[in-house]
Amino acid sequence: MRGRNPYLAAGEARRPTRPYTITVRHPPGPDSPGDTVIFVDPEHLSNGDHGLVGSVLGQALAAGVEIEHSCGGVLACSTCHVYVTAGGKSCGEASEEEEDMIDGAPAVRSTSRLACQCVPDGSSDIVVDVPAWNRNAVKEGH
Ligand code: FES
Repeated sequence: MRGRNPYLAAGEARRPTRPYTITVRHPPGPDSPGDTVIFVDPEHLSNGDHGLVGSVLGQALAAGVEIEHSCGGVLACSTCHVYVTAGGKSCGEASEEEEDMIDGAPAVRSTSRLACQCVPDGSSDIVVDVPAWNRNAVKEGH
């Protein structure tokens, strides 16, 4: 599934104005891709065909870094659940719709965000941890 949730207003997220990095940390394991640092150029934001333009998911997919995204980034699942463990303030507040969807995810923490909806403003580098259950979902082909 691709596209945008028609029930959400467009253009709500702030866009970055300076380059920054997203470090994606996958949980350890035999098939783990490990840690990847993505350099984000605000002049070339992407949604990787999934999620909001400039979102963590979009930037990751555009860089070839996989994060599960069963609904295609239209805020209809919680498989893109990640923990923003550094630089979370640059991501702004989650929308009510995002928070409602996160509530349905396993192992929710105060740092939980949906990667397809989380658009950093570039005021700091960020680090996101992919939950272990998310990696398992990818491995099983869901
Ligand atoms: S991919 Fe479904 S909510 Fe992000």
